Amino acid sequence: MRRIKVKVRHGYVVMVGRDLLKDCGKFIQTGDTRIKKIFLVSETNVAPLYLDKTRKSLEDAGFEVVEYIFEAGEKSKNLNEVAKMLGVLAENGFTRTDAVVALGGGVTTDMAGFAASIYLRGIKVYQIATTLLAQVDASVGGKTGVDLKEGKNLVGAFHQPSLVICDVDLLQSLSDEVFAEGMAEVIKYAFISDRDLYEKLKNKIDKNSPDLEDVVARCVELKAYVVEQDELDNGLRQTLNFGHTLGHAIERNSNFTVSHGFAVAKGMAMISRHSPIYNELVEMIKLYDLPYEDDSTFEDLLGGIMNDKKKRGSKITVVLVNEIGKAELKTIEPNELKGYL
Ligand SMILES: NC(=O)c1ccc[n+]([C@@H]2O[C@H](COP(=O)([O-])OP(=O)(O)OC[C@H]3O[C@@H](n4cnc5c(N)ncnc54)[C@H](O)[C@@H]3O)[C@@H](O)[C@H]2O)c1
Ligand SMILES: [Zn+2]
Repeated sequence: MRRIKVKVRHGYVVMVGRDLLKDCGKFIQTGDTRIKKIFLVSETNVAPLYLDKTRKSLEDAGFEVVEYIFEAGEKSKNLNEVAKMLGVLAENGFTRTDAVVALGGGVTTDMAGFAASIYLRGIKVYQIATTLLAQVDASVGGKTGVDLKEGKNLVGAFHQPSLVICDVDLLQSLSDEVFAEGMAEVIKYAFISDRDLYEKLKNKIDKNSPDLEDVVARCVELKAYVVEQDELDNGLRQTLNFGHTLGHAIERNSNFTVSHGFAVAKGMAMISRHSPIYNELVEMIKLYDLPYEDDSTFEDLLGGIMNDKKKRGSKITVVLVNEIGKAELKTIEPNELKGYL
């Protein structure tokens, strides 16, 4: 098991390993003996698989557990659901020294983290990430939030977790598609910052690979480093947006029928078309059964990028990779984007 420290103002540890879930109660209890009640948040796909084990571990560690299960999926990531969660927290008399535990993918960690950030002006949140994407990205870094009907992630708060548990055994139950979506972010980390990781990924990693723990740990280290340098997301953290400017436009234009991971894979390939690393990138995207081509026109993409009216006329920052393991930021006029595609 690895313990990766995220050295921000309220620093915390990310544990990456196998068979960690059964000890989650002990890990939380050791870190803070004041907590009496735990608000355990999960959703309808994850709960049948892992809730009992989690609950037992928490109860064995002496916590009183109040469960909250919501309908799986991005459509639940909204203010109504958060309001319901806050109501249950209040009804059950949760205090400042109690805590929230999120058990799920990015939807769960974002929403439970946000509820924890605003209940009584902030109580602790512990993230047990159950998708590859949540382990390597969403659960680390302290961004929490929900969607509005006007757009994704428009409401939120920075609220660092007290501990993140990434038990890679939990990834075995992911569908191949959801696993591949997470791999798009893993490939991103390799190309923006780690040539060794790129070399490792050339031997296809799957849900059962012995290397999976290493790969998740490496991505967490890379994200932790970036977050430490740039906690409030102004500069360096933007390199994590490789493939995301075009990816978000593709997601939005498809009315979110194209998943985030698939859109990012396409976005990385499209922005790199004239880069010397293009062939290596596309080979890797294909190896992980991700798409790299999209039939959107330049106008479609620009429309998607600029669809937020406030952005109209403003410049955009793109992330470029010209050498595996090195990213650069470039601020351009929207029309200049055409030159890259
Ligand atoms: N806060 C951040 O920094 C950050 C970063 C990236 C993404 N996000 C957010 O994360 C969300 C996407 O995350 P996601 O892809 O994990 O979505 P998700 O939570 O919806 O999980 C994807 C699917 O996998 C299922 N699932 C989860 N764990 C499982 C398991 N162990 N076994 C079987 N099925 C399982 C879920 O029920 C769901 O159907 C988006 O809302 C995005 O905005 C946040
Ligand atoms: Zn992403």
